[in-house]
Amino acid sequence: MTDPAADPTPELATALAALHAMAFADPWPASAFAALLSLPETRLDAVADGFILTRLAADEAEILTLAVCPLGRRRGVGRRLVDTASAALAAEGATRLFLEVAEDNAAARALYAGAGFAEVGRRPGYYGRPSGTVDALVLARDLASLA
Ligand SMILES: CC(C)(COP(=O)(O)OP(=O)(O)OC[C@H]1O[C@@H](n2cnc3c(N)ncnc32)[C@H](O)[C@@H]1OP(=O)(O)O)[C@@H](O)C(=O)NCCC(=O)NCCS
Repeated sequence: MTDPAADPTPELATALAALHAMAFADPWPASAFAALLSLPETRLDAVADGFILTRLAADEAEILTLAVCPLGRRRGVGRRLVDTASAALAAEGATRLFLEVAEDNAAARALYAGAGFAEVGRRPGYYGRPSGTVDALVLARDLASLA
């Protein structure tokens, strides 16, 4: 039987790591999610098929990771998670939302472009690939209009 007073973080971290492993070639371990969830600046928005983890510092926010399980894709889940987190972060005082995305991640780039993100920087060779490296694009979205 589950103790309702027990800390739900380890179980949640394990579930997030399992979903992350379905979405990324280099998934984060449950311990990484547990560490992030223990920080007050971390925000989690989750549904059955996916989740988004964000972090707020002063008036700037960052998407730490976004994952939708393969069978749940192309149904608007990713976009809804981004929009939900964006609105919540704006309400908490964030004026800009940043993220990093691999240049070869066409699905995520299309999602972010549709959600109003624009390129503001680039980290050359940031992500390893079997055949070499690809750049990380730094994208940002203005949240002031959502507040
Ligand atoms: C990127 C990801 C989160 C998208 O989730 P999703 O729930 O399938 O996205 P949505 O259904 O909300 O799609 C929103 C829009 O993004 C774009 N998009 C999403 N998947 C796409 C794909 N495979 N190819 C092209 N465009 C795509 C489309 O413009 C789409 O709108 P449309 O379906 O009306 O054409 C999902 O593919 C995923 O988890 N990928 C692996 C992890 C990852 O790359 N995370 C982001 C790291 S920065």
